[in-house]
Amino acid sequence: MTFNAYLVRGKSGGYTLVDTVHADYAGELIERISSVTDPAQINSIIVNHTEPDHAGALPAVLAAIGGAEIYATVAAAKFLKARYGIDTAHAVKSGERADIDGREWQFLATPMVHWPDNMVSYLPQEQILFSNDAFGQHYATREPLDTQNDLNVALGEARHYYANIVMPYAAPTAKAVRAAAALPLKAVAPSHGVIWTEHISEIAELYLSLCEGEPKAAAIVFDSLWGGTAERANEAEKELQKSYSDIKIFDLRSAHISDVMAELSACKHICIGSPTYNGFPTPRTSTLLAEIEALKPPLKEYSVFGTFCWGGGASAKISARLDSLGLKKIFDLSRCE
Ligand code: FEO
Repeated sequence: MTFNAYLVRGKSGGYTLVDTVHADYAGELIERISSVTDPAQINSIIVNHTEPDHAGALPAVLAAIGGAEIYATVAAAKFLKARYGIDTAHAVKSGERADIDGREWQFLATPMVHWPDNMVSYLPQEQILFSNDAFGQHYATREPLDTQNDLNVALGEARHYYANIVMPYAAPTAKAVRAAAALPLKAVAPSHGVIWTEHISEIAELYLSLCEGEPKAAAIVFDSLWGGTAERANEAEKELQKSYSDIKIFDLRSAHISDVMAELSACKHICIGSPTYNGFPTPRTSTLLAEIEALKPPLKEYSVFGTFCWGGGASAKISARLDSLGLKKIFDLSRCE
């Protein structure tokens, strides 16, 4: 994926940097800035979020430019001090406006999209929103705009990103999306992936459907040790087809867990298959359960299947974990064979 930092030329000759990048790429960022202007011309840095992928290079950038006025939320200012030893940030309130180098900026706090410190920054005259993690994608493209890339791929990557980064915070994310969608917008510039220009309504609709929609799909996700549980997946699919028409199947031996979570972002039902491994679900299945607990997909129901040779245990432990999350059990096809 890309780490996007933006350089905005002011009307008084200076520059504002919006976010930085991961510390490993500080040199590349400074080199790219140097190809546009003398980095010393940057007199302001907007820190929308202090996670290391956006603020990791901040100390190196500050050292290279000899200091700058930093704008950040109260929480971000605190994190900048704790994490990077930077205690000079100007803490802004949500809705606060600032004139920076002759351009009007507005800062809107978006807590928990993705950390408590997040905000988005808006240029009302230019109608550009710098949205940081919101509307981002785990995606690296040669061309930066949505119109220069395959829209379905970009939206698919945005869904993958949403599921694996901000899904646990669906309610504050929906609130932030509604606030952003109410602004006049010519561009939404996230800190990962492509910049939205002609397809802002599509990305906003995708987010709202993921945050607030009623999921209708089902997914079968299984692991297998000797092939027995894998052979049972078709049986589970036939059972699920009685209630669901949209069913995706993932084999954890080959599927990436982030792709499974992307699918689960629109699923009502998960059917988990696991053999019993010394009384437990397999480690891959346990990882899946941990991700479900951490990322909180909008699941309402679950089912279980799997094989075991003697005592069993996987089904009961999977069920206990999903029961504790408030999911309703529909069927259990686990058996000794
Ligand atoms: Fe892209 Fe929450 O950092």
